[in-house]
Amino acid sequence: MDFYKKLSVEQWAALIPFGIACAAVGYGTKTILDKKLGIGKVNPSVKKNEPKVVDMVDIEDIGNKAVFCRCWRSKKFPYCDGSHNKYNESCDDNTGPLIIQKK
Ligand code: FES
Repeated sequence: MDFYKKLSVEQWAALIPFGIACAAVGYGTKTILDKKLGIGKVNPSVKKNEPKVVDMVDIEDIGNKAVFCRCWRSKKFPYCDGSHNKYNESCDDNTGPLIIQKK
């Protein structure tokens, strides 16, 4: 079990290219998976074909109350559809909507 203690400096040096190759494969795989799965990005799926997501809502159209999504998981984006609850459970987060209402 303690074979590594018996390795010489030359043997350790011989393992360096193998270690570098393993790190490169691991990093490349992680990078590809992150890109495919949208991990590490705020916006996983909203209007991904556009260079920037911009929404405009006229204040007159809001009525007495409007609930806007801040988790980027709503199917009705920019409006909240409650998807933040499932998202919060999945990653132990606490995001919630922005509620705008008239007094
Ligand atoms: S669905 Fe995103 S904040 Fe509610």
